[in-house]
Amino acid sequence: MLLHVAGVLDAEEIRHCVEQLREGNWTDGRETVGAQGARVKRNLQLPEGAPVRQALGALVLAAVARHPLFHAAALPQRTLPPRFNRYEGGGHYGFHVDGAVMALPDQAGQLRSDIACTLFLSAPDEYDGGALLISDTYGEHEVKLPAGDLILYPASSLHRVDPVTRGSRLAAFFWVQSLVRDDGRRRTLFELDQAIQTLQAAGADAGAVLRLTNVYHNLLRQWVDT
Ligand code: NI
Repeated sequence: MLLHVAGVLDAEEIRHCVEQLREGNWTDGRETVGAQGARVKRNLQLPEGAPVRQALGALVLAAVARHPLFHAAALPQRTLPPRFNRYEGGGHYGFHVDGAVMALPDQAGQLRSDIACTLFLSAPDEYDGGALLISDTYGEHEVKLPAGDLILYPASSLHRVDPVTRGSRLAAFFWVQSLVRDDGRRRTLFELDQAIQTLQAAGADAGAVLRLTNVYHNLLRQWVDT
């Protein structure tokens, strides 16, 4: 499932992130990928241990945690602390795959990357190029969102970032291990959840809404992966 989650960060939070990132001590993005990724990756990243990365990462995770759409779509079990990247001067990242298993910090075990997320921090008119291209069974999807918006997509897809030919593109990115491993099942639960909320808001029959809510939880109970 490809989902655009709008308004994860407000204008003040975006301004704060961009200000902090401008001061950042950026290093070559190839430091966090294997040989396959290193051949096609040309961008800058904040080093893993940078305090600003930790502080802004916590801000991003708090923002997604309070966003009802994100929670309903991702059903997060574990989340890797966000990283921050910067593309400029032709910087790009060719088609690649994300690792299936990633180490959590502080020897906290591992994470299976079910869902990839990119949170845009630069407004689309601040740079040329820099679209995220996601290739799945339905074809290729080009994503370039307003600052503060997030795209959530299956980490199993091939994806790339077009060269940035003007300006600078700042973004946060992270991966989620979901309580529901299968993308199709997650989508079914998300559709059901959204339909229930629409019915509730429309004042539908309370007994029927309750039964549908029960169906939602029974499906989740069958599919949950803990
Ligand atoms: Ni990637």
